[in-house]
Amino acid sequence: MNRLAILGASGHGKVVADVALAAGWQQVVFFDDAWPERQRNGHWDVVGDSARLQTELSAFDGVIVAIGHNPTRWDKYRWLRAAGARLVTLTHPTASVSRFARIGLGSVLMAGAAVNVDAEIGEASIVNTGATVDHDNQLGHAVHVSPGAHLAGGVTVSALSWIGIGAVVRQGVRIGHSVTVGAGAVVIGDVADGLTVAGVPAVPLPAAPST
Ligand SMILES: CC(C)(COP(=O)(O)OP(=O)(O)OC[C@H]1O[C@@H](n2cnc3c(N)ncnc32)[C@H](O)[C@@H]1OP(=O)(O)O)[C@@H](O)C(=O)NCCC(=O)NCCS
Repeated sequence: MNRLAILGASGHGKVVADVALAAGWQQVVFFDDAWPERQRNGHWDVVGDSARLQTELSAFDGVIVAIGHNPTRWDKYRWLRAAGARLVTLTHPTASVSRFARIGLGSVLMAGAAVNVDAEIGEASIVNTGATVDHDNQLGHAVHVSPGAHLAGGVTVSALSWIGIGAVVRQGVRIGHSVTVGAGAVVIGDVADGLTVAGVPAVPLPAAPST
């Protein structure tokens, strides 16, 4: 029986577990730093925290990080990679992935996602349910394309950026690193590093006042 360890016992983690089973993994267990308080995540057991996972890496045929927050996922992914974990990539059987696309290790492609010809996706990224990443896209590490978001051809999304649910990005647009694109936004121009943009067309949201 092949066994997958998932770090991150959240709602997103449940979806990742479901993708794993659909993709042929036979047993899934969770690790989360909220253990031992958190013992279950939906249908699955939470059996330890990340320190315990590190001591048990050899007991698993695969490991994946299922944390929605991009910087945290990226930190945990790199820590596991350095610890020698057998990190895996997961693709739901209903996702459509071009044979000419490149998907980085540790990434997850959810049900109904599409990744088209010559797209490249970095490590530890998420293409969520029904999202599309079109031809010649370049996505960096730890990017999250939320459910139902659509990236037209030739879009660039740099590391750690989050494209919100149902957002649309026009062809050729360049989105910097650590950008947040709000739910339902239509992005028609380039977005500088670190900005949050929202609306139709998307414009930067004012920064929250510092206290
Ligand atoms: C953009 C976003 C990150 C902003 O969150 P926030 O910093 O907490 O902002 P607030 O909710 O305080 O809203 C600040 C202002 O921006 C507006 N706003 C927030 N999100 C917006 C959106 N998606 N589109 C248009 N306007 C938006 C609010 O109406 C508010 O306007 P006001 O100041 O005139 O009242 C968030 O609303 C969002 O869209 N997140 C994406 C969620 C998502 O995709 N989830 C799927 C996960 S799988």
